[in-house]
Amino acid sequence: MKWTDASSFLCLAHLAGACLLPEERAGGSIRRHNTRQIRNSGKAIGTGDRFNGGALFPIGLGSGNETDMSTILNVKEVNSALQGLAKEYGFETFTTPYTTYEGATMSGGTVGGQGTCDETYRVFLNGAIHARERGSSDNVLYFIADLLYAEKHGTGLTYGDKTYTNADVVTALSTGIVFLPLSNPDGVAYDQSTNSCWRKNRNPAAATNGDDDTVGVDLNRNFDFVWDLSKWATSVADEVASEDPSSEVYHGEAAFSEPETQSIKWVMDTYSKVRWFLDLHSYAGDILYSWGSDTDQSTNTAKNFLNSAYDSVRGKTSDSTTTGYGEYISSADLDNVSSVGKRMGTAMDAATGRSYTVMQSAYLYPTSGASDDYAFSRHFADPDLNLAYGYTVEFGFGNNKASCPFYPTDAQYIQNLQETNAGFMEFLLGAAEVGLGDSQAC
Ligand SMILES: *[C@@H]1O[C@H](CO)[C@@H](O)[C@H](O)[C@H]1NC(C)=O
Ligand SMILES: *[C@@H]1O[C@H](CO)[C@@H](O)[C@H](O)[C@H]1NC(C)=O
Ligand SMILES: [Zn+2]
Repeated sequence: MKWTDASSFLCLAHLAGACLLPEERAGGSIRRHNTRQIRNSGKAIGTGDRFNGGALFPIGLGSGNETDMSTILNVKEVNSALQGLAKEYGFETFTTPYTTYEGATMSGGTVGGQGTCDETYRVFLNGAIHARERGSSDNVLYFIADLLYAEKHGTGLTYGDKTYTNADVVTALSTGIVFLPLSNPDGVAYDQSTNSCWRKNRNPAAATNGDDDTVGVDLNRNFDFVWDLSKWATSVADEVASEDPSSEVYHGEAAFSEPETQSIKWVMDTYSKVRWFLDLHSYAGDILYSWGSDTDQSTNTAKNFLNSAYDSVRGKTSDSTTTGYGEYISSADLDNVSSVGKRMGTAMDAATGRSYTVMQSAYLYPTSGASDDYAFSRHFADPDLNLAYGYTVEFGFGNNKASCPFYPTDAQYIQNLQETNAGFMEFLLGAAEVGLGDSQAC
């Protein structure tokens, strides 16, 4: 694990990847890479339904005797796997009240906790908000499958060189988990059928002259966190997000304009005591924690995302947090959020021997409207809402640029599962230890 703080930030300028390709970020403003060329697919996508409409259920990598993982789960299989798990283990599923542009719904489940009321669930795992980051849904679903299998059979879990006991499984489940394995179903269906390295959703509203590059909104720039680009320093305003529909980071017509982001907000509103939120992305090998807007600082409460006095300087991570701007986070919150991040990194490295970098999100590049910042910001924008710590985890490798770098090989797909699932386990154990908020029993 590499642990990175502000003093070493400048060394990270070479860090490419992490949801955006170097060529997409080249020259300041973020553009569309050429996707018209159909790319190599990497690991194949499943063609049928290995869970037979929910009659069968997945078994994860950590349990042994796992489901056939020779192909990536297709969109239909993500849903049938969820139904199969719910049938085998008897937990509640939900479907959000929003429908995508292509008529898809978004479904998830709730497991563990200390009762069955919505308020017992304190951890939220979100998958596949960016379409091309293949395997994201699989990582979430197989992990949930592992927890439930291990609970039912009284066993532990093994991810590469990292092992967990049955007592760990019981503790992990006690946190109460709400999960949404596929938050961008249209984008994933499109990417899987075209191999076009597609990132955004499939909102056709801004499309001009049938130009496919102008279809879609970057869902991870559409949340209500300093969404308005006039609230950023002009030098970074075209990097944190974009008003141009052809950009990979086009942020939409308004914050929460999209059914997919509305669905994630709905989960946060419904399971209103969620304390820990994790959004799963690729690629890079990073664990990123709040804030993503500017360098964290714990000395000046006035320097915060709600204060328009700093609109002209927000997002310049190179300026001093004393003379310029830094995003306020209390030292207690920073300790809590970074310590669980570091714990995840250590476990993910132990699983496979890879080295994850654990750092503040803004050190990768500052962003507007991202899910992890929105999760953490809710309580500060409205003190009636629960405090929730936000993370972005970036599994995966930047593969050959002739193919889509986000598409895993067979071996990488398995390695990603070992790393993310050890990381999820540690995330839950860390959350249980650092705290879940007030009583969960109901
Ligand atoms: C492995 O799992 C399958 C179901 O997924 C089951 O039919 C088979 O008996 C299991 N094999 C062993 C050795 O447990
Ligand atoms: C975070 O840190 C503070 C102070 O150390 C502690 O009181 C609090 O319970 C911690 N956990 C959470 C989830 O806020
Ligand atoms: Zn991403």
